[in-house]
Amino acid sequence: MRTEGDTWDIVSSVGMTALGVAAARAIETKRPDALVHDEYAAPFVVASGDSDMKRLITDPTLWTQIPFTSGFIGYRSKFFDDFFLSAATAGVPQAVILAAGLDVRAYRLDWPKGEVVYEIDQPKVLEFKRQVLTESGAASRSDRRAVAVDLRDDWPAALVEAGFDPTSPTAWSAEGLLPYLPGAAQDALFTRIDQLSAPGSTVAAETIDSSVDIGRITEQESQYLKDTPFGKVDLASLFYTDERTDPDELLTALGWTTSSLYIQELAERYNRPLAPVPEPLAQMFDCTRYLTAFKPS
Ligand SMILES: C[S@@+](CC[C@H](N)C(=O)[O-])C[C@H]1O[C@@H](n2cnc3c(N)ncnc32)[C@H](O)[C@@H]1O
Repeated sequence: MRTEGDTWDIVSSVGMTALGVAAARAIETKRPDALVHDEYAAPFVVASGDSDMKRLITDPTLWTQIPFTSGFIGYRSKFFDDFFLSAATAGVPQAVILAAGLDVRAYRLDWPKGEVVYEIDQPKVLEFKRQVLTESGAASRSDRRAVAVDLRDDWPAALVEAGFDPTSPTAWSAEGLLPYLPGAAQDALFTRIDQLSAPGSTVAAETIDSSVDIGRITEQESQYLKDTPFGKVDLASLFYTDERTDPDELLTALGWTTSSLYIQELAERYNRPLAPVPEPLAQMFDCTRYLTAFKPS
C-alpha cells in the first residue's frame, strides 16, 4: 500500500518498477529487431542484486511467461527517444525527464551540443543510478543534471535550483509515471509544467484512459503475474486509483495542442507487429495512450 510521503530504493516499492523496466530494456537491446539499444540496462539489473530481475536478463526464456513486456517497453522507449530528439533538433534547449528511474537517454541519445537534460526522481533511485554509471565509466552526451526530489513535493523549486530556465522552451516527459502519483499530484504536475513552460515547449506522457476501472485491471494483472519473476512488481498495490483530470483535457484547456497514439499505432509506426497479449494484460494496453502536447506562441 502507498502512503503519503513514502520513499523507496531501487529494489523496493515503486523503485522496483524502474528495475523491471531496465530488465525489459536489457532484453529489448538483445533483440535482432531492437528499437532501442541501452547498454546500461543490464548492468543496472546486475548491480541491484535482485535475483528475480537478474534471472530475467540471464534467461530470456522466462519472458515466455510475459511475452509482451519487453516488446512493449521497446515501442515505448522509442516513442520517447523520438520525442526528445525531434524537440532537441528543432532547437528546444532543455529536457526534463520526470521520474527518470534508470533511463539513460542523457547518455544514449545524440543530443545537440549544449542540451541540458534534467532527471527527476527519488534520492535513493538517483544515487543507485549514479553509482552504477560511475563504476561503468559512463560519459553523458548532454549536460545532465540529476534532481533528487519527490514529485509530490515542490519539485519546481528543486528544478530551478538545479539551473532550469523557465524562459526557454522545454521538452518534458512523463513515461511510466502517472499512476504512481495521487490524482491531485498528477493534476498539479501538469499545471506546474504549464507554468514552467515557455512557448514552444512540448510534453510527452504515457496516460491511462480515465473511463476504465484501473484498480480492477491492475488486480487482475497482479494476479496473472504473481508467479512470474515480475511477481514483486505488484501494480495493484503501487498505483493510485483516485480521480484525476485527463492530461490531454487539462493541457488542451490551457491552450496546448495535443495528439495521442495507442500502442497498436506505435507498433505500426515502428513496423514491428505486437506480440499476442494475454487477456488481463491486454486491458492495460488498450487503455494506455501516448500523448504529445505542444505549447504554441
Ligand atoms: C516505472 S518506473 C519508470 C522509470 C523511467 N521513466 C523509465 O521508463 O524507465 C517509475 C519511476 O517513477 C519514479 N517515481 C514514481 N513516483 C515518484 C515520485 N512521487 N517522485 C519521484 N519519482 C517518482 C520511481 O522512482 C521510478 O523510477
